[in-house]
Amino acid sequence: MKKLSKRVRIGMIILVVVLCAGVVGVTVWLILGKANETTNEVVGENTETTGVEEVAEFVEPEFEGVSAEMIAAIRAERYYLEKNLERYAVYARDNVDLTAEEIVRNVNSNLDRTRYVDVKDADLSYGVLAMINKYNYLGNYEPDDLEYLGDGYTNGTAPYMRREAAEAFRKMADAARAEGLTLMNISGYRSYSLQDWLYKTYAAQDGYALADTYSSRPGYSEHQAGLATDINSVEVSFANTAEFRWLQEHAADYGFIMRYPDGLEYITGFSYEPWHYRYVGVESAQQIVREGLTFDEYYAYYVEK
Ligand code: DAL
Ligand code: ZN
Repeated sequence: MKKLSKRVRIGMIILVVVLCAGVVGVTVWLILGKANETTNEVVGENTETTGVEEVAEFVEPEFEGVSAEMIAAIRAERYYLEKNLERYAVYARDNVDLTAEEIVRNVNSNLDRTRYVDVKDADLSYGVLAMINKYNYLGNYEPDDLEYLGDGYTNGTAPYMRREAAEAFRKMADAARAEGLTLMNISGYRSYSLQDWLYKTYAAQDGYALADTYSSRPGYSEHQAGLATDINSVEVSFANTAEFRWLQEHAADYGFIMRYPDGLEYITGFSYEPWHYRYVGVESAQQIVREGLTFDEYYAYYVEK
């Protein structure tokens, strides 16, 4: 009985050990199984995503009324801006005779928007590269660093420019003078109220529609930014002078560009002004000339974020 009972005890111990081992085994199996499953899920997910990326080609968004070829041509343009894609597409649809180059150029210059209606505040954080035109409004802004251009550099009632522009103007005029030519500012900084008076005077004389082709409305003039100068004469015949030819060749080296070129009224919003020069700094002025851009196009592509 005693012997039997010992055997029973040993048997029970073995049974308990086997049972425990079984329980542990099953638990480990379950845990490993689950872990494996999870890993597979994750791997599966990844594999699936990678697979999709590998097989799917980039699909161009489709735009109603514009061919895929035109969208591709627009995308390939030198001054293409991704943020303008939808505007290009709408503009292309509405202007079927234009080339991709014209579409990009016109939209970058805001021709799909309405002048003096689709207006925002001029972004003065761009400093001398700020855009002031029929879409970018200065309000009552007055620069805080206006400087008198100096005797011998200016005639008339608007003899100031912002300091950097004034210094550059004097350097430019000195260089021209060394070649026997006279560059004289006849209109630099103009306040909001002076521009208001000018615009109203022109409008009374020629009507608002015509005045709008050659005079900014108050708050929209580069002159109010203290970054523009009218040189020598406000007649188109200024383009026939030696001074004009000198400016064509050298103005950019002093940071100035002719802001309203002939034939580009539809881009700039103003008729030809061979006398109106805008200070943008030497590097930008040279690049604008090198690339044959208006400031509107340059601003859209290189300045505005
Ligand atoms: N004449 C230029 C466009 C102005 O009024 O600002
Ligand atoms: Zn001017």
